[in-house]
This record gives sequence, C-alpha cells and structure tokens, in this order.
Amino acid sequence: MLQFPDGFLWGAATAAYQIEGGHSADGKGPSIWDTFSHIPGKIFENQNGDVACDHCHRYRDDVGIMAELGLNAYRFSVSWPRVMPRGTGAPNQKGLDFYSQLVDTLLERNIRPFITLYHWDLPQAMEDRGGWGARDTAAAFGDYAALIGRTLGDRAKDWITLNEPLASTTAGYVFGIHAPGKQNPQLAFQVSHHLNLAHGHAVRALRAAVPNSHLGITEVSMPVYPASDADADRQAAQRYDGVVNRWYWDPPLRGAYPSDVLERLGALAPKIEDGDLKLVSPPIDFFGHNSYTRAVVKDDPSSMVMGATQIPQENTPKTEMGWEVYPNHLYDALTRITREYNAPDIYITENGAAYVDEVVNGAVNDPQRTDYLRTHLIAAHSAIQDGVRLRGYFCWSLLDNFEWSFGYSKRFGIVYVDYATQRRIVKASGRFFGEVARRNRIEG
Ligand code: FCB
Repeated sequence: MLQFPDGFLWGAATAAYQIEGGHSADGKGPSIWDTFSHIPGKIFENQNGDVACDHCHRYRDDVGIMAELGLNAYRFSVSWPRVMPRGTGAPNQKGLDFYSQLVDTLLERNIRPFITLYHWDLPQAMEDRGGWGARDTAAAFGDYAALIGRTLGDRAKDWITLNEPLASTTAGYVFGIHAPGKQNPQLAFQVSHHLNLAHGHAVRALRAAVPNSHLGITEVSMPVYPASDADADRQAAQRYDGVVNRWYWDPPLRGAYPSDVLERLGALAPKIEDGDLKLVSPPIDFFGHNSYTRAVVKDDPSSMVMGATQIPQENTPKTEMGWEVYPNHLYDALTRITREYNAPDIYITENGAAYVDEVVNGAVNDPQRTDYLRTHLIAAHSAIQDGVRLRGYFCWSLLDNFEWSFGYSKRFGIVYVDYATQRRIVKASGRFFGEVARRNRIEG
C-alpha cells in the first residue's frame, strides 16, 4: 500500500477547445482552432471541436461525475475568445457567466478549480493582428488575465498561465500540425519568447486581481536518454534536452535562456529586449508538469538545431499515440526538476494514456489505461519519498475528447464519451482512479 501525503490533490484535466463545443454560442468569437480545424485535410477525417463533448451545456453533469468519483480538484482552461471575442476590448458577459457558474458548481461539490488561462485557443482576431508572433499579444494576454482574475478570483485561487509552450511553438510554428499551422522555426523561437512574456504579464495581473493567489505555469517534459554510452550520444541527449526542456523551463524558473541553446540557435534566436528576462520570471508558487513519455536520442549532425535524432524503441509497450510506456520517466523528471530548479512545489497537471476502448454491455473495461495510471502513480510516489514536493496529480483526461489533429480517434478519458448521444460512461480506469483519490493511497 502506498500512502500519499495529507492534502494531496487528485484531479482530472481538460482543455476548453477539446471539450466545450458551443463554438459560436452566446457571443463567443472564433479561435485559431476553430479556423484551423475547418481547413480540409488538417484534422483526422476533417473533424472539429464545434460540438466536442458539449461540455458547455453539460458541465453540471460532468462536475457531478467528478464528485461521484471522489476527485477534489479539476483543471480546466478558459477559452479567451469566449470571454473576449476579439481578444482585446469588450468582454462577453455570457462567456464570463459560463465560467463563473462552472466555478460555483465545482465549489458546491468541494472540487478545487485550477484554471488554465491559455490552452492553445488564441482568438482569431489576435491572430489576424500577428498572433503570438507579435509582442503586443503578450500584453493583451495580461489584460485578459486581469479580466478573468477579477471575475473568478474571489472564489478560485489556483491558476496556471500557459499550457505547454513547447507544443504551442513546435506543433503550431515548426511542424504546422496545430493551429495556426505555420512552418517557420525562426518565428517559433520568437513566439516562445512572447509566450514567456505573456506568462509574466499574466502573473502580475493575477497577483493584483486575485487575493491569496496560487500561481504557476504548466510545461511539458520529455526526459531524454542517450541511445548508448558513447560520448557523442550523451552530448546529443544534452542538446536535445536543451531545446525541448530547458529552453522552456529556464526562463520562468531561472530568468534566463540556456546559453548552450542560444549559442546553437545563432540567427534563429529570438529578439529579447532589455528587462525581458526579469519580466518573464516573476516568483510563482508552483511548477505544473505534463508528462507522458520519454525520448531516446542519438547523435545526428544532420539535424540542424539539436544535432540529435529520436530513436523509436522496439519491443516496448506503446499507447495508441505510439508513445512508449516508461513509467520511470516520471520519477526521473520530477527528481530532476527538484534537484536543478530549487525544489519548487510541483503538480502533475497532465498524465494519462490513449487506448482503444470498447463498450461491452454498457461498460468500458480498460486494463491498459488502469495499468498506465497505476505504474505512473507508483513512480510519482517514489519521487515524493525521495523529497519531491509533489502536491497533486491531474490525470489526462476527465473525458474522451477532441485530440487536436487526431480528432476524436484517440481516447484519453477516464470517462468514455459516446459522441453520437453524448452519453458518458465511467471507465474501469475511472473507478480505479476514484478509489485512489478517495483513499489517498494505492492499494496492493
Ligand atoms: C498534451 C496537451 C493535451 C492533450 C494531451 C494528450 O500535450 O496539453 O491537450 O492533447 O497532450
């Protein structure tokens, strides 16, 4: 039996575009994901998030499911264009009311809201004015943060500024497989800096607007392991780690960009103005950590920035995303952050797995997902034993949902969604997770 510390938070995570639907309801403006998902060929079977899980109409039932499972926290994101249709200027009261009611409903059920301000759905109107490539967008994000802080901050104290800047930049601006679908590495690095500025503006705005605020940022981690003991591969692993991890963690946590990465970037390096490094690194209360798998890499001089290539692992278990199941990556990542970044409080803000699910006699039995959760929770528990200040765990995801370019073809939920009827079925993994949450321990 593995007992978690008193007060540990057990939650599930979602993101606005992936579950809400109501894409043009009640005055909401379009986001870059509304635009992108409607471009033929971008998303699996040309699906989109117009309706998704219809959570904007069914949120009371969804909160009810969490309460029944015994969860005590919920991480969701606010859609910026739902509350500020053009990204700046007049707010949309109906959009604000939606989140206000969601927060009230959560609190009635003793579920602590963790609010992410940005999970990738930039208002299209901001994109039309240069999007994250424009420095002004960061300041506009601060104003948006102030608005939401003023609206919800009397009741909600836990806030996350950004979700996974790495994914925003690489998927959105290098590979072009996420909105806004650009393929421009130079712009990508500039965008990463503007996202950091946005984080800084938002932290300041929330500190001013929210009494007793508890603030953080969510970064993804991809622990990197060398393919062999050879020096060349070890150095390749460090370079790869620099670009996918340190480049994103260092500015908010240390107020600096890693010098080895800056040097390798050369002309691709972003323009950083005087005072920016201070602006991007206001004190925060916790580090949000999303983690799914690891990367094994080898030296590859032909790869431009990193000089390293990821090697697919053979004969190891994979999820439906093709991601290797390697629970120790979580222990390694958590202990490393603690060692190298001054032991911040950490929340695992996402961890989970996609598998093919089948409804049989009205039930979904998903032993692989249960096993994924169990083994990763065991790894998290060992990290706590070894001194990591891990304060909570949010599984990804509460509901099956719109998995970006994969549309509805990948199911990550601990609750199954029948998209034709919007019926929800708690999966066996959801029951398992609820038991762990209620008892604050893993049995066996
Ligand atoms: C993370 C995203 C989340 C979901 C999971 C599978 O990178 O934050 O929205 O797509 O991956």
